Amino acid sequence: MCGIIGIITVPGAFNEPLGSIIKKCLKNLEYRGYDSVGFAILGDIFVVRKSKGKIDDVAFGLGFDKYDGFVGIGHTRWATHGPPVDKNAHPHTDCLGRVAVVHNGVLENYLELKEILRRKGHVFKSDTDTEVIPHLIEEFKKRGFQPYEAFKKAISVLRGAYAVVVIDLDEPNKLFFARNTSPLIIGIGENAIFLASDIPAFLEYTNKVIVLEDGELGYVTSRGILIEKLLKPGELDDELAMTEIVDYKSRIKVLDWTPEMAKKGGYPHFMLKEIHEQPGALAATIAGLKEEIDGIVDALLKSDKIIFVAAGTSYHASLLGALYMNNLAEKWSMAFISSEARWWMSNIGEEDIVIAVSQSGETIDTLVAVREAKRNGAKVLAVSNIIDSAIPRESDFVVYTKAGPEIGVAATKTFTTQVAVLLYLSLKVAERIGNKRIIEEIKNDLAKVPELASSVLSRYEARIKSLSRILKKKTNAFYLGRGFGVPIAMEGALKMKEIAYIHAEAYPAGESKHGPIALVEKDFPVVFTSIGEEEELLQSNIEEMRARGAWIITIARKGSRLFSISDEKFEMPNANEYVMPILSILPLQMLAYYTAVARGYDPDKPRNLAKTVTVI
Ligand code: AGP
Repeated sequence: MCGIIGIITVPGAFNEPLGSIIKKCLKNLEYRGYDSVGFAILGDIFVVRKSKGKIDDVAFGLGFDKYDGFVGIGHTRWATHGPPVDKNAHPHTDCLGRVAVVHNGVLENYLELKEILRRKGHVFKSDTDTEVIPHLIEEFKKRGFQPYEAFKKAISVLRGAYAVVVIDLDEPNKLFFARNTSPLIIGIGENAIFLASDIPAFLEYTNKVIVLEDGELGYVTSRGILIEKLLKPGELDDELAMTEIVDYKSRIKVLDWTPEMAKKGGYPHFMLKEIHEQPGALAATIAGLKEEIDGIVDALLKSDKIIFVAAGTSYHASLLGALYMNNLAEKWSMAFISSEARWWMSNIGEEDIVIAVSQSGETIDTLVAVREAKRNGAKVLAVSNIIDSAIPRESDFVVYTKAGPEIGVAATKTFTTQVAVLLYLSLKVAERIGNKRIIEEIKNDLAKVPELASSVLSRYEARIKSLSRILKKKTNAFYLGRGFGVPIAMEGALKMKEIAYIHAEAYPAGESKHGPIALVEKDFPVVFTSIGEEEELLQSNIEEMRARGAWIITIARKGSRLFSISDEKFEMPNANEYVMPILSILPLQMLAYYTAVARGYDPDKPRNLAKTVTVI
């Protein structure tokens, strides 16, 4: 998905040309996937350069490093409207070449705007939706609007999703910006202010941020920030856009993220680095929880039903959360895929709590479910890794995982930290209702989980690497479990699908004989995830698969009877069954990673996927 950077500086802020800084920031967004690259820089001259291709090649070809200036924008494009060719790369400009725009998102009304602008004599050079923005700004300036007013007016007539950053030569000391649905963040540096679609873009220069909200727009100068709220959608008339000034001071946050966290640190891929960061991420998350929990536990205790809404990996964490809430906290609880949640909301009301789990905090399906829950009067608790992102902002309570930046598109450390948070919350509720003995045992094992995770990672990496050489030749796989093992099977299969492109399906093991087993033949890979007490039941499922020649890979606790009937064995430390899922997923993350690499794919940039999904 597209990446945006905008920078405005005081003279001499950097000891290298602004073009090099833009290139570096774009490299930090490379993981998002893209097909074209471009920049615009204003210094002694105004240059706009763009091309299809990879950042290093394009930057070399177009000489990014030789251009210096005090204000610049850069973009990596992931084609939506029009093929990945030079003319469709960003920035896009107006007829006079005085306005340059970079944009993420999709404009719904661009065709009608384009037609109106064409009739007024504007000439379009690309197939993109974005190009209407510079022409709209140009059009409003022609009608007598001041540049910033023209920008605001242009934004007010857009419908759809956008994060936009604009250089206008008629107001050269400002970078205009606007956000609706697509994330945009301001980074406040010593001698420069940044705008980016994602924090890692500028983390090397500052960790002081303001996360913009939907409907906000404004400008930054080298020393100042103006944020306004758009009060209503505009028309193509001559009325000024209606906005009001936002007091953002209390929204400035200093993150405890370091630039090293957003670098590969010697690992070949972010995903592998993030897999190995899990012990530290779990320790930081668990340590951080103590401060923020009491009010949330009160609300959970008082609630009638606890409903989880989430997508993808976060949904798998939510399935565990619901099991924990039912079994530990003794609350009726269920998890729903957020895009489906609307069909389950009619009986949710004021007495219920909806827990929205989203590492990015921006997933639109989950945000829509949150809004629906709130409309019905339910209280919402967000579990997210990104401070001040949309879902936490719209929720009544928030718990942050402290996983640090997760760059790989495939979620790993955010998953295990989400599960740790949900287990901790359930434990806290359980503590208030009694049952002390089991709680102490789980708490002790949860405290040990960083250390246990570290031992699982180091013990099995080499074995998994060699196993991936067999798995890479397979086209299908089943992942089966029971109870707490089902979400782990689902998450393991999702990882395999999304980065290694092997068709991997997960089922509750008991369900396999009701249909899926028809596919099993000699050497068909079946991964079993056993957490503990369901072992006896799983034994017969393994036997059924073995009888059909399946190749059995089993993840189970130390000493499990399942190992004697399995081909490949991954022995997990003896932790409490509530804690085991956090450990059992680790070999499956590595299995997917190494299989993707063995098949020649880049696990950090899976095809067709985006880290943050802001389209319904
Ligand atoms: C995970 O590996 C996937 N990339 C994806 O399923 C992801 O978990 C999903 O899009 C939800 O994202 P969120 O946690 O940011 O809401």
